[in-house]
Amino acid sequence: MKVRNLAFLFCVSFLAIACKRAENLDQGSEISIGEFASLTGQTASFGQSSHKGTLLAIEEINAGGGVLGKKIRLTTEDDQSKAGEAVTVVRKLISREKIVALLGEVSSSKSLEAAPICQQERIPMISPASTNPKVTEVGDYIFRVCFIDPFQGKVLAKYAIAKGWRRVAILTDVKQDYSVGLSQFFRETFRQNGGEIVVEQSYSSSDKDFKAQLTAIKAGVPDAILASGYYTEAGLIARQARELELKVPILGGDGWDSPSLVEVAGNAIEGCFFSNHFSVEDPAPKIQEFLQKYTRRFNAAPDAMSALGYDSAMILADAIKRAGTTEGPVLRSAIAATRDFNGVTGLISLNPERNADKAAVIMQITGGQFRYVETIRP
Ligand code: PHE
Repeated sequence: MKVRNLAFLFCVSFLAIACKRAENLDQGSEISIGEFASLTGQTASFGQSSHKGTLLAIEEINAGGGVLGKKIRLTTEDDQSKAGEAVTVVRKLISREKIVALLGEVSSSKSLEAAPICQQERIPMISPASTNPKVTEVGDYIFRVCFIDPFQGKVLAKYAIAKGWRRVAILTDVKQDYSVGLSQFFRETFRQNGGEIVVEQSYSSSDKDFKAQLTAIKAGVPDAILASGYYTEAGLIARQARELELKVPILGGDGWDSPSLVEVAGNAIEGCFFSNHFSVEDPAPKIQEFLQKYTRRFNAAPDAMSALGYDSAMILADAIKRAGTTEGPVLRSAIAATRDFNGVTGLISLNPERNADKAAVIMQITGGQFRYVETIRP
């Protein structure tokens, strides 16, 4: 009996070692890249879009033979839009998948959760769409392929001034670093340009009732309202504002970019404006080609996060090629050296702060559609 048990144990350990070998071999023939995204939960539209863009890029890279003679294996983890979850899934990607780089997240608060881990482990991280300045300030392993909110806030403030709105009310989601930052940068430029912030109100992500804040805003008689949070609440804010006979234009940032905005707000959001990274209405050949490929693959049009997700994966692959290795410090330097990369969202050069200096577009909601208004360069 004992001898048999021993023999069994021996077999099991032998098998385990053999499996481990196979796993290592497998990792040698592929390049393991991680992605974390809010595929479900509150901001599922962000994760779904950025993931599809990222996936399309990886599929194209692999169809073209991969990089450094290897295929890319993309492992995507869902952080469920939940605070704290990003830490868990990113640790898992690092320890189990042995990823050499990380793509994600859209929401700044989520990227801020993961960035210190990547910095510590020397795993380059590229956020496609997080615009809060603090994200890349975490350290030299953290990058993004989009503009940052001091620019986006300025774009919105100058647009408001140009529209003749001198008295603006601000409504901020205090649970999102993105919203807090965007309100702050808007406020600064708006005041510098002679504007007055007549009321400031706040709420927390996933709140549903904004009547008290909107009543206070109405009392301030603003020309317009900045709702600097995500589409999830912006749609409800617009509806409830109209119910209170508060009819002034509402302004937002890139966080409004989701089809659900109009689904929730309906007519209440007609005529309102938001800033964004990209518009499918841009006739640039690179954008039209992307629109076609993406629509063929997913049966839906891309939004800004799809385009940025695509660009983030393409920039990473380009850097791996230039680095000639996936070793953390070398790959990090290659990403940092990205200049004039011809992305779907424009020419991308990473500046010394590891951010991209790019143009923003102003979009207006007209007939339930997001219509391109103009491009604003840095
Ligand atoms: N910029 C937002 C953030 O930092 C995320 C976002 C990007 C949302 C692009 C929509 C489109 O949190």
